[in-house]
Amino acid sequence: MNIENLINAAIEARKAAYAPYSNFTVGAALLGKSEKIYTGCNVENAGFTPSICGERAALYTAIAQSERSFIAIAIVGGSEDSAEKDLDFCFPCGVCRQVFYEFCQADFQIIVAKNKDDYSVYTLKELLPHGFGPENLQK
Ligand code: THU
Repeated sequence: MNIENLINAAIEARKAAYAPYSNFTVGAALLGKSEKIYTGCNVENAGFTPSICGERAALYTAIAQSERSFIAIAIVGGSEDSAEKDLDFCFPCGVCRQVFYEFCQADFQIIVAKNKDDYSVYTLKELLPHGFGPENLQK
């Protein structure tokens, strides 16, 4: 896996974010087992609740293209007008962690990045231990 490429794809995806209400823009780049990269950005809505995070936008794009297995996701986010060098780490929200849990294994890598040289890598198990998944619905 080329982490630098994945982070750069997330940085690029963030440019398309639509976040007029929070002014907090997020880009995500998801690496499938097919080696394809799927990107997403947050898209907000005047009704607020229909808004979607960048991570889920990327994941649902991948699912819609029939990818079902994933290796890693890179995430960058911050205030729309903060310079790239001032970005803080943007961790995925609880809803996105739950959605990852549906499709990704415990060792799925979550890369939270400020830029291609400054990032941390976590596993899904670290960010969502004891999750609730499809296996819990089998008798
Ligand atoms: N957001 C994301 O897209 N991903 C995250 O990991 C955290 C939050 C979005 C949702 C909303 O559009 C804005 O950032 C502020 O919460």
